[in-house]
Amino acid sequence: MKPGSDEIRVGLAREEEIPSLSKLISDLFAIEKDFEPNDEAQCRGLALVMASPLGAVFAAREGETVVGMCSAQLVYSTACGAPSAWVEDVVVAKAQRGRGAGRLLVDFAEAWARDKGAARVQLLVDEGNVGALDFYDAIGFSRSTMRCYRKKVSR
Ligand SMILES: CC(C)(COP(=O)(O)OP(=O)(O)OC[C@H]1O[C@@H](n2cnc3c(N)ncnc32)[C@H](O)[C@@H]1OP(=O)(O)O)[C@@H](O)C(=O)NCCC(=O)NCCS
Repeated sequence: MKPGSDEIRVGLAREEEIPSLSKLISDLFAIEKDFEPNDEAQCRGLALVMASPLGAVFAAREGETVVGMCSAQLVYSTACGAPSAWVEDVVVAKAQRGRGAGRLLVDFAEAWARDKGAARVQLLVDEGNVGALDFYDAIGFSRSTMRCYRKKVSR
């Protein structure tokens, strides 16, 4: 374990932490080309995931201070014949990176997914985000050959 990482704990995020979590998501979306920070949408989305029986938001805390987060949501996989989980919103506050919080968060999400019967966890990474790609390589993920497509649904 790295110096200091014993002080960082991960658990389910609390509703009152939504503003701090949204700030972290803004840091993430500022570096992801597909997204733009939008505090109002992020707070609404976090509340929806927290309230969902198929989702959860996790916070890494040092004491009572939120220093990182991720979320997970289950879908049913025909490939696995079981649930699988999408892990999203993985971000650690700049000053706290390199202390093991990212690994703790993703491990926690994986354990949550396993408890819910998931046979796989998956996530998307901006192809230019070299640090994140190296991070997922380091924590045991393998790279996929699938490409992500998206389309806005008009209302
Ligand atoms: C990616 C991120 C979540 C990693 O969090 P972290 O707390 O710094 O990572 P950890 O300290 O838990 O590192 C775990 C492992 O990944 C490696 N790693 C982490 N960041 C890395 C980087 N930028 N380059 C290379 N390796 C990295 C560490 O060396 C460590 O490996 P080791 O245990 O074999 O030494 C963090 O850098 C971050 O918030 N980045 C900005 C947001 C982002 O890109 N999120 C990912 C969205 S898909």
